[in-house]
Amino acid sequence: MTDDTTDALGLTRRQALVAAAALCGFGAVAVGTAGAAQASGSLRVQLSQYPELKKVGGIALVGDLGSTPVAVVRTGTNKYIALNRRCPHAGVAVTPRGRGFVCLPPGHGSVFTDTGAKVSGLTPTGLRKLKATLSRGVLTITG
Ligand code: FES
Repeated sequence: MTDDTTDALGLTRRQALVAAAALCGFGAVAVGTAGAAQASGSLRVQLSQYPELKKVGGIALVGDLGSTPVAVVRTGTNKYIALNRRCPHAGVAVTPRGRGFVCLPPGHGSVFTDTGAKVSGLTPTGLRKLKATLSRGVLTITG
């Protein structure tokens, strides 16, 4: 499977590896180390380091801002959003699937669009957007 193909769950190879690493407790280390760095309350993401973000609609897991797992979504030619991956229902980190996110076990199956809006499930709301500023190919994300 190449990075662009998906498995039966709709996960890319990278997403499957990230999910496997997260299940083993290595998610925070395996994700986001390629092109993101934390600095005094912000997460700086070098967008060119994430092949998933080369096309509109791409989703990348870029690491953590403090204890908050963060996803970046390319929403336009030069537009990106950052989402808090913690499900508002009970705080499980959601996983990219298809064109959005799903809250896999131990979560309870809530589904979200790629911009974080609630589609279905027990979650009371959509995913929380984080403040993000783009400059010279670096997205700086703050709480
Ligand atoms: S924690 Fe996500 S649906 Fe319950």
